[in-house]
Amino acid sequence: MKKKLLCLVLTAAVGMTMFAACTSSENIPDETTAGTTAAAGNNGGSDESKDTEAVAVGKKVGVSMPTKDLQRWNQDGANMEEQLKAAGYDVDLQFASNDVNTQVSQIEAMINGGCDVLVIAAIEGDSLGTVLGMAKEQNIPVIAYDRLIMNSDAVTYYATFDNEMVGTKQGEYIRDQLDLDNAAGPFNLEITTGDPGDNNAKFFYKGAMDVLQPYIDSGKLVVKSGQVDFDKVATDSWSTENAQNRADTIISANYTDGSNIDAWLCSNDSTAYGVANSLTNNYTGNWPIITGQDCDILNVKNMIAGKQSMSIFKDTRTLASKVVEMVNAILSGSEPPINDTTTYDNGAYVVPSYLCEPVFADKDNYKELLIDSGYYTEADLA
Ligand code: BGC
Repeated sequence: MKKKLLCLVLTAAVGMTMFAACTSSENIPDETTAGTTAAAGNNGGSDESKDTEAVAVGKKVGVSMPTKDLQRWNQDGANMEEQLKAAGYDVDLQFASNDVNTQVSQIEAMINGGCDVLVIAAIEGDSLGTVLGMAKEQNIPVIAYDRLIMNSDAVTYYATFDNEMVGTKQGEYIRDQLDLDNAAGPFNLEITTGDPGDNNAKFFYKGAMDVLQPYIDSGKLVVKSGQVDFDKVATDSWSTENAQNRADTIISANYTDGSNIDAWLCSNDSTAYGVANSLTNNYTGNWPIITGQDCDILNVKNMIAGKQSMSIFKDTRTLASKVVEMVNAILSGSEPPINDTTTYDNGAYVVPSYLCEPVFADKDNYKELLIDSGYYTEADLA
């Protein structure tokens, strides 16, 4: 019975994984339409499922997520729990309220509570060295989930989306929409990125700025606030409120003279939401191009309403299924899925990684990406 259920879930996962265009070529096409947020590791047919069940028996996986405040981590946590349980594991899932000390004590409790593998999305990449030292002493493998854990050789593998590609897609979108290579300009740009303690934020920023910086240098893009460097445009905790407050200040200091903001590069949806709120409250010019990432429900609604131009869809079901594959591989002593061994140096070593491919989303393709795949229902977005 359990096996049958697992097979069903696996079949759905294969369909969804294909759809989300993970960079892996090992996913097998399947006619099944995706229609549930439940998805498990796409590691094949019933023999392997049986093996997976055998591997999972009596094994516990600790899953440490940063916060319940942002939609995506709730989804990540729920998908991980669902998929790990479907594969037969016990799961200890914890959310740390964006508080580093809470995350450290939750991880300690997971280690002391007998977890066999830890899956961690760090609040601050640099703050887990000591507790992961404990994990290493007890030979507990650690998978860094979405965000790289820095300066620790206790990190076994890293599973994420191609973070630099996220930024590249955002920068290219602004370049193409403003037609920067042909239009006379100049155009006004403002920039909002993420939490300085999150290694991903630097990758998003770099990917976008590699595209946009040459136009800033040539004067085609003007940043009237003068705030361009990473430290100046970062947003503590990726908070909507912090992004909104900074946007308030930028707008009142630079854009109350009737000048337009042509584009606002936002690294993710929570910051894009804050910027859009600020524009709604304080700005009377033409609505700018606003980028984002995650396809959070509020932001998809903003896209539909014309208040956000694009987002990046990172199908958390796909990431979870890769991590379940990694857990299975670690516990069965086989090769985990890895497709990048050069990019993610965490200061201790280059962590073998699996990068899923982020997908461009806007008001024209969100239905196909998000509703047809079962990620959201129509009602979620109404
Ligand atoms: C994730 C993004 C997310 C951000 C804020 C990053 O580490 O990769 O998807 O928007 O954190 O939670």
